[in-house]
Amino acid sequence: MRALTVTQFLALILLTLALDNGLLRTPPMGWMAWERFRCEVDCKDDPGNCISENLFRDMADRLAEDGWKELGYEYVIIDDCWMSLLRDEQGRLQPDPSRFPGGIAKLARYIHDRGLKLGIYGDMGSHTCMGFPGTTLDKIEIDAQTFASWGVDYLKFDGCYSNPVEQMLGYPLMSKALNATGRPIAYSCSWPVYLGGLPPKVNYSLLGDICHLWRNYYDIQDSWDSVKDIIEWFSDNQDDLQPAAGPGQWNDPDMLIIGNFGLSVDQARSQMALWAIMAAPLIMSNDLRNLDSSGRAILQNKVAIAINQDPMGIQGRRLLKEKSHIEVYWRPLSQSASALVFLSQRTDMPYLYHTSLAKLNYEAGNYEAYDVFTGLTVKGLNATTELTLSINPSGVVMWYIYPVQQSKQAETHHYHHNKVLYFTEVKHHTVL
Ligand SMILES: *[C@@H]1O[C@H](CO)[C@@H](O)[C@H](O)[C@H]1NC(C)=O
Ligand SMILES: *[C@@H]1O[C@H](CO)[C@@H](O)[C@H](O)[C@H]1NC(C)=O
Repeated sequence: MRALTVTQFLALILLTLALDNGLLRTPPMGWMAWERFRCEVDCKDDPGNCISENLFRDMADRLAEDGWKELGYEYVIIDDCWMSLLRDEQGRLQPDPSRFPGGIAKLARYIHDRGLKLGIYGDMGSHTCMGFPGTTLDKIEIDAQTFASWGVDYLKFDGCYSNPVEQMLGYPLMSKALNATGRPIAYSCSWPVYLGGLPPKVNYSLLGDICHLWRNYYDIQDSWDSVKDIIEWFSDNQDDLQPAAGPGQWNDPDMLIIGNFGLSVDQARSQMALWAIMAAPLIMSNDLRNLDSSGRAILQNKVAIAINQDPMGIQGRRLLKEKSHIEVYWRPLSQSASALVFLSQRTDMPYLYHTSLAKLNYEAGNYEAYDVFTGLTVKGLNATTELTLSINPSGVVMWYIYPVQQSKQAETHHYHHNKVLYFTEVKHHTVL
């Protein structure tokens, strides 16, 4: 009977609630501390890596000065370990005074002054995952008010140290409390992770009502094994997950680890390609002060970003999982365009994969394909053209595909005028 009471209570909350405040009509983009910088609090011995206001100011500077902001990477998100172990006399959360001597409001101003937005971390429970003060049910309102008063634009709300009943009450209450502050705050819910990520325990329709995005599955680590495992879990469960996504409500397979230590160039492209196809948040966790050119090029790939940010907001799906360990992913895009990703789960050598657009459910017609990572345009395709693609081990081929009228095929792109930029760039590529 207790569960029924909770459900009824929840229904009451929901009557007065919707987080439909126009935020995150496309997946959020930005930078978050966790995967790369974890809970390093030793600023004495590890000043460049410790969780402190300097780290977030540095990343804001890089986002603003190195071309990231213009591409859409706008959120600078603090994760766990920013807090003091004690709330203040009024019961408010406060930052660690030695690592954030200027306070969060000042950091928010610094970030806003650069045209960026600030995200912060809290935890629905008695403690954060790393043991800092949590947000118990009685603290939800004051914490939402505190974040809003600081000028926070995004909240990642974790779920360590709480039980399912507290979570069922707390996540909707925080949504309501954020709304009540009057400040538009994007709301990322880690709730599904703590319930195993799948229905019937997870109600994705409810999550879509109260959160802008949600973490479905385990934390990403700095390895291809981890990226691969995440891709596999999301694809194996796409029937439950894919329909939940749309403008203002996104599945979150976790941060982009491109530019760190664990991925080859091919694997980094694979992560970018799959995150774009999955309409996933593009939230990097890397050291932007110290990024190699291949990582930067992948993360700043304009076509991959445009695919990710497509305004229709339809999450892509895995179409095929071949016995050859080639997988094919597809995402419909606006203006009758689409994206295809061919992913090799092989571990031997570049594999020649034979297919055609017709085999991938494309209608008869004429098409062109832009190869997202090589910059080549493949012209004169029709649905039955036989395609042979060479796909590297743990790598991808990613195509942006658009229909063309035969007579206009080669040079005119006015029906895709917003993509002309990409074709202009293609002309600078000499490889063929
Ligand atoms: C609060 O919710 C209402 C109703 O969905 C919405 O119109 C409004 O924009 C929200 N305000 C904020 C600040 O989130
Ligand atoms: C899921 O949540 C929605 C509210 O968004 C509610 O109408 C529906 O009954 C819930 N489904 C289940 C199985 O509890």
